[in-house]
Amino acid sequence: MTALAVPGLDQAPTNHPRLLSWVREVAELTTPERVVWCDGSDEEWQRMTEQLVRAGTFVPLKQKPNSFWCASDPSDVARVEERTFICSVDEADSGPTNNWMPPAEMKSIMTELYRGCMRGRTMYVIPFCMGPLTAEKPMLGVEITDSEYVVVSMKIMTRMGSKALARFGEDADFVPCLHSIGAPLEPGQQDVPWPCNDTKYISHFPEERMIWSFGSGYGGNALLGKKCYSLRIASAIGRNEGWMAEHMLVLKLTSPENKVHYVAAAFPSACGKTNLAMLEPTIPGWKVETLGDDIAWMRFGEDGRLYAVNPENGFFGVAPGTDWKTNPNAMRTIAKGNSLFTNVALTDDGDIWWEGMGEPPAHLTTWKKKDWKPGDEELTSHPNSRYCTPIDQCPITAPEWEDPKGVPISAILFGGRRKTTIPLVTESRDWQHGVFMGATLSSETTAAATGQVGVVRRDPMAMLPFIGYHAGDYFQHWIDMGKRADAAKMPKVFYVNWFRRDADGGFLWPGFGENSRVLKWVIERIEGKAAANETAIGHVPTAEALDLSGLDVDPADVDKALAVDADEWRAEIPLIEEWFDKIGDKVPSLLRDELAALKQRLG
Ligand code: GDP
Ligand code: PGA
Ligand code: MN
Ligand code: MN
Repeated sequence: MTALAVPGLDQAPTNHPRLLSWVREVAELTTPERVVWCDGSDEEWQRMTEQLVRAGTFVPLKQKPNSFWCASDPSDVARVEERTFICSVDEADSGPTNNWMPPAEMKSIMTELYRGCMRGRTMYVIPFCMGPLTAEKPMLGVEITDSEYVVVSMKIMTRMGSKALARFGEDADFVPCLHSIGAPLEPGQQDVPWPCNDTKYISHFPEERMIWSFGSGYGGNALLGKKCYSLRIASAIGRNEGWMAEHMLVLKLTSPENKVHYVAAAFPSACGKTNLAMLEPTIPGWKVETLGDDIAWMRFGEDGRLYAVNPENGFFGVAPGTDWKTNPNAMRTIAKGNSLFTNVALTDDGDIWWEGMGEPPAHLTTWKKKDWKPGDEELTSHPNSRYCTPIDQCPITAPEWEDPKGVPISAILFGGRRKTTIPLVTESRDWQHGVFMGATLSSETTAAATGQVGVVRRDPMAMLPFIGYHAGDYFQHWIDMGKRADAAKMPKVFYVNWFRRDADGGFLWPGFGENSRVLKWVIERIEGKAAANETAIGHVPTAEALDLSGLDVDPADVDKALAVDADEWRAEIPLIEEWFDKIGDKVPSLLRDELAALKQRLG
């Protein structure tokens, strides 16, 4: 075949040979109408958003500058875990928690899906960088996509376009990320507002460091720099290179004495990371600043401490529940505009609304584009509806958030959504016990992934859908990281649960800004200042150690939130055993020892 004449293909703003040949190869396979190299400029954003408005995908918001409302296809609303694959060469490197297919087989299936799949559409080439552009070794990627929605979302969520391409030179390594919505347009065919395909694959090739995604336009399935690169591929790279890619927020906490601590926290999707990252403390004198709300890359610094960097450039936050009372900093961030809102409700005066935002207006257009009035049963917004907004618009973003060195982490919190059993906060005995807490973390499933909601499952380190290799090897990597450092320099590990309920189903702990009281106890423990009870599962605050001043709650509820119920824990043991058996021989023996010791302490 002679070289394909696709307009734009030869207007590449780079001489990078591997990039050029890959882009040509993809264009030849997918046969788009034209190729556009994205520069990330404001003019490009303007052009693309206008095009999305004309296509009926976006509605410009009258009440928020440069912001848009968007509704996905009702079938394309969340990550599709059952369609997500880790295609390692050896199945044993993918492990029992991931879907696996041999790379050659996956490639042959997907090559046929990609053949001609961009017909009638534009193929966009998006060079991007995860983490600061000033990094000594920037983490580069290129996403090829036929979705304008993906291009504008990538502008918010990553450093992309010319400024990223400038770091490619002629031979820099990059992760090729191929994405198609899988909806070719025949001549004269009318497009739909949210084209996608019922057949979906989100595939990762860890040895080649490559990502292929097909059929979905939504969030984690389509913005390939996020979960696919920064968690699944990066976790596999980090294991080989001695660092960690984790599903963690990073926040900066300053005490009334002006002491600074950085805290990272891993909670499963839709379990409170974004809210904690932007928390407004209710206790006087304490200050929280944000560095990241979803992903942290952690490496040892020269001083032997663990330093975290946020690879992202924006927030892709759960909309429902976000309000001036619960998360005022998110409200301030989106009020500045330059944001996308997907699957929330639209007001008649051109603003957004969702469940949890107080009194609804007299009329709304739901995410399903239906009329809605107060009292109607239907949800106005999908439970996994999202706002997408630049991190530098957040009024409490810490100035050092772009420091390529990262920030030294004092504490790691693991947490989940559990109605019972798990106390408000527990401190681990040491790193190894902390790894055990993380490895056995459990949470009720949420709308962030397709499937049943509210089912308790093990979600190790909140990474179940994101570990790019064998979960047993991942546990071992966590243990090994602790062995490489001076124990005193490792972050202290805690387990939190904001979601414990009383018999009537109400939350025992008010959460949100009040979680600052838990952060205070965490810091005071690190500084050796706060009291705790030693229990079978770790150190839990004494009733007096938790600062409850000015908090309007029934102290009995706080006691219940803090309670370690031996019966509930004894019921948890077989679930943990079952989980370890599922992981199999690769569960580190030290974690089996932790389980045996826990069983013994529980009697
Ligand atoms: P993320 O997906 O982990 O970033 O979680 P978010 O911070 O976006 O929160 C997910 C959902 O949990 C939202 O509806 C929040 O309003 C809710 N949420 C967050 N923090 C708390 C909390 O401390 N208590 C309660 N009850 N709900 C919370
Ligand atoms: P979340 O991010 O953790 O903020 O929900 C999206 C996801 O994990 O799917
Ligand atoms: Mn997430
Ligand atoms: Mn979030």
